[in-house]
Amino acid sequence: MEADQIKLTVALCMCLVSLVISTTDPNDLAILKQFSKGLSNAEVLKWPNNDDPCGPPSWPHIFCTGNRVSQIQVQGLNLKGPLPQNFNQLSMLTNVGLQKNNFTGNLPSFSGLSRLRYAYLDFNNFDTIPSDFFRGLDGLEVLALDNNPLLNKTAGWLLPVDLQNSAQLANLSLMDCNLAGVLPDFLGQMSSLEVLKLSFNRLSGGIPVTFQGSVVRILWLNEQSGGASHGMSGTIDVVASMSSLTSLWLHGNHFSGKIPKNIGDLASLQELNLNSNDFVGLIPDTLATIHFKSLDLNNNHFMGPIPRFKGVNASYRTNSFCQNDPGLPCAPEVMALLEFLDGVNYPPRLVSSWSGNNPCDGPWLGLICNANREVTMINLPKFNLSGNLSPSIANLHSVSEILLSSNNLTGRIPASWVNLKSLKLLDVSGNNLSPPIPRFDSSVKLNLNGNPLLNSNKSSATAPPDNGPSPEESMSLHNNSTSESAGLKTHTKPSKKKRPKLVMFVVPVATFGILIFMAFPLSIYLCKKRRNSIENPTSLLVHPKDLSDSDNLVKVVVESNNQGSASTLTGSSLGSRYSSGMNSHITDTGNMIVSVQVLRKVTNNFAPENELGRGGFGVVYKGEFDDGTKIAVKRMEAGVTSGKALDEFEAEIAVLSKVRHRHLVSLLGYSIEGFERILVYEYMPQGALSRHLFHWKNLGLEPLSWKKRLNIALDVARGLEYLHTLAHRSFIHRDLKSSNILLGDDFKAKISDFGLVKLAPDGEKSVVTRLAGTFGYLAPEYAVTGKVTTKADVFSFGVVLMELLTGLMALDEERPEESQYLAAWFWNIKSSTEKLKAAIDPALDMKEEIFESICTIAELAGHCTAREPNQRPEMGHAVNVLSPLVEKWKPLKDEIEEYCGIDYSLPLNQMVKGWQEAEGNDLSFVDLEDSRGSIPSRPAGFADSFTSTDGR
Ligand SMILES: *[C@@H]1O[C@H](CO)[C@@H](O)[C@H](O)[C@H]1NC(C)=O
Ligand SMILES: *[C@@H]1O[C@H](CO)[C@@H](O)[C@H](O)[C@H]1NC(C)=O
Ligand SMILES: *[C@@H]1O[C@H](CO)[C@@H](O)[C@H](O)[C@H]1NC(C)=O
Ligand SMILES: *[C@@H]1O[C@H](CO)[C@@H](O)[C@H](O)[C@H]1NC(C)=O
Ligand SMILES: *[C@@H]1O[C@H](CO)[C@@H](O)[C@H](O)[C@H]1NC(C)=O
Repeated sequence: MEADQIKLTVALCMCLVSLVISTTDPNDLAILKQFSKGLSNAEVLKWPNNDDPCGPPSWPHIFCTGNRVSQIQVQGLNLKGPLPQNFNQLSMLTNVGLQKNNFTGNLPSFSGLSRLRYAYLDFNNFDTIPSDFFRGLDGLEVLALDNNPLLNKTAGWLLPVDLQNSAQLANLSLMDCNLAGVLPDFLGQMSSLEVLKLSFNRLSGGIPVTFQGSVVRILWLNEQSGGASHGMSGTIDVVASMSSLTSLWLHGNHFSGKIPKNIGDLASLQELNLNSNDFVGLIPDTLATIHFKSLDLNNNHFMGPIPRFKGVNASYRTNSFCQNDPGLPCAPEVMALLEFLDGVNYPPRLVSSWSGNNPCDGPWLGLICNANREVTMINLPKFNLSGNLSPSIANLHSVSEILLSSNNLTGRIPASWVNLKSLKLLDVSGNNLSPPIPRFDSSVKLNLNGNPLLNSNKSSATAPPDNGPSPEESMSLHNNSTSESAGLKTHTKPSKKKRPKLVMFVVPVATFGILIFMAFPLSIYLCKKRRNSIENPTSLLVHPKDLSDSDNLVKVVVESNNQGSASTLTGSSLGSRYSSGMNSHITDTGNMIVSVQVLRKVTNNFAPENELGRGGFGVVYKGEFDDGTKIAVKRMEAGVTSGKALDEFEAEIAVLSKVRHRHLVSLLGYSIEGFERILVYEYMPQGALSRHLFHWKNLGLEPLSWKKRLNIALDVARGLEYLHTLAHRSFIHRDLKSSNILLGDDFKAKISDFGLVKLAPDGEKSVVTRLAGTFGYLAPEYAVTGKVTTKADVFSFGVVLMELLTGLMALDEERPEESQYLAAWFWNIKSSTEKLKAAIDPALDMKEEIFESICTIAELAGHCTAREPNQRPEMGHAVNVLSPLVEKWKPLKDEIEEYCGIDYSLPLNQMVKGWQEAEGNDLSFVDLEDSRGSIPSRPAGFADSFTSTDGR
């Protein structure tokens, strides 16, 4: 009882005490009084004449927590005067709204206001900011200081590093407040910072690399006036990694370099303003894939074509584009010269003079044209060019002199330059070029003096040795061995093998009669095109697109002096025959469309380390989903398909995607966004057959047993047979070779890259067609006439059989003259038992019992490579010959081999898994096939359990 009374009394007393104490903290009161006293128009505050701002009732514009002032909200009252210098003693402040007044004088320090979350000080007249202003602002979320003439001895002020401790800072707005110096590194690392507006200051320098991956959504750095260059500078490569960006304003600076290619990664970007900078180069196609609300590219030095932008508000005036309207391509010579410019990093003098779409019209510094308005001379000695020489110059067919002495050029002389048929003089003296020197025709005068890295030994006008494979070997969809990639443009090792001498040749049709097999290598002779040759009404100019190209695709140009003979070539394309009814295919492919974003993600943004191989159609990347599902992603080279109408491309994809066979690499999807053309294939873990035949030692692989080789031969034969006769339309592969035959984990072989030839551009003129194929595998009649039938594939298949038998590459200039062309040589030796035995791949464990089947394959190889197409067998015959040789071969029902075990409604990775599952368990597949006719799609869960045990 008594105890209770005491408690009650204590409670009452406490209550009274607290009432007394709850009058405003006297120190806070003093500061508020000083605040109003300093103002020349304090009356607008309407503060009452009492000493208790926290009240109740509290003073207008003041908010308290307990007896402490926590907020001052006086925005827009036009208050005039300074703030008290001990302002930071209002230590419980959480929210200060002083914006849009006329506060003047020194901004007091805010240091130690650790509870302060919001500080709006913008639109005032503060003169200076103390250097400890930001110290200890541990809770700061938003700070705005815009529009204050903050000066530090008239030189602007620097953002103190103290601010980095404000870990929750989300909005930092410091526009037009004389902020100087460089953009501090720490801002890029602030993990909460989403809005960074620093426009209209005196910043200089670049965007620091710390912004890599930053979560900033709004980054405004426009219109800086500081620094020697009056503004910010450097490249903007880092912004492409800032995937949260919605608004990027960089206008009115001196940013330079190219728009990063991966800018398309910025999926959320809505506003991009690059107006009035020093940007150069081509607008990356990926930029055109972004749906902008506004895009401003005005007043830079952009070149090349204007893409068709998706956004409505794109503006791009005052640049150096080749065309005035979006979507129009540049002339090929212009593109070639722009690539050259890219190689030498866009020297400003050339950038400003190389504009328009005709290098023979306008200034085009350093170029000289002939009367036919073709560039004949590149004359840029002592031009301070720094960088690499571009292979693209090989497309300037009329160039006879290239004078680039006394610059700072590095890297190699591109191998493609040997294709410059008019070239007389190449002077690259006084640079820093590296070997190898491509083998130019002896008529070309070379001046290579003063390049320390080039062998002073002039007789090395041939390429030095190369460890890499010959070019026809290095094209592969899934290879990524050092030896295979050595043939790529990026290789750094000197090569051991010589490049094929095939550079540019004309095969007069009149000689076709004698251009028979034995004479094959001989009859292709180096010479000049003969336009007016009377006995050769049609002549054929065959030249590889670029010898440094891993893939050595060749292009056939039919030079004709009578129309009729030329048109036969292009008339033979499959497309016209099947063009009707294409629309029905288009609608079928809706579900195959995969977003570029997804493909970027799984390939880690097409990272070089995911590169599996390169070919004439583009680069192939490995893609891996989070769940481990793998795909192969072929990113078509820009321009490869740009000449094709989109509809036609899609229609072709639709057709290809329907070609399903266990021995054909499946097309699983595709992307078309802007200029991106990406194809998605199943991933083949063992890579190309060529790796296992020719490079197994270097790669630490087991050599293929005879049994495996027979199996592979049969797989390929069945795949081809299907393409030729069993698919719903007849396909001709046109580029079958061991690097296009891919192996799965079980060494099951599949043919890749079929049908891609059709997607390649037809070329500039109707008389130019594209002859796909690789020397060594190319049927003679195809090489000569460009006419292609299924028998051209049969020929190539025969060559692959020879490779399987001998372990020798189809074409290898390292070998003695008579055996360079495997096919020609093999024909000579195949009928002699002794010679054949000697020719068998030493990696094969040769036993007498397999020799019989070896003879059978040798026979078949000869049959398939017969010189007359009609003497070669159909692929069905090859299947019949091979089947009995393959142990435990389980016959399949050919008619039902086409199946559609792909459920395109599933997400890509699940679709792949379902497909792998349908495929992986081969025997059960056969049974299912027999009983049900086609593979039903599996539920995703089932696929999961399968793939996890399978390890794929
Ligand atoms: C702020 O005050 C200064 C001087 O008192 C005056 O010149 C200026 O016009 C005022 N600015 C605004 C926005 O009221
Ligand atoms: C003002 O400038 C001086 C030297 O120029 C510098 O040391 C100081 O940190 C600057 N203060 C602020 C707040 O930027
Ligand atoms: C932060 O900045 C954004 C963008 O300017 C703005 O919409 C938002 O209101 C700001 N947040 C605060 C709390 O001021
Ligand atoms: C030449 O180029 C190299 C590398 O591209 C560069 O490091 C060097 O500074 C350049 N030299 C001159 C004189 O431009
Ligand atoms: C491809 O080759 C490069 C360099 O040779 C290597 O770094 C990379 O890991 C390889 N990628 C794959 C998928 O094997």
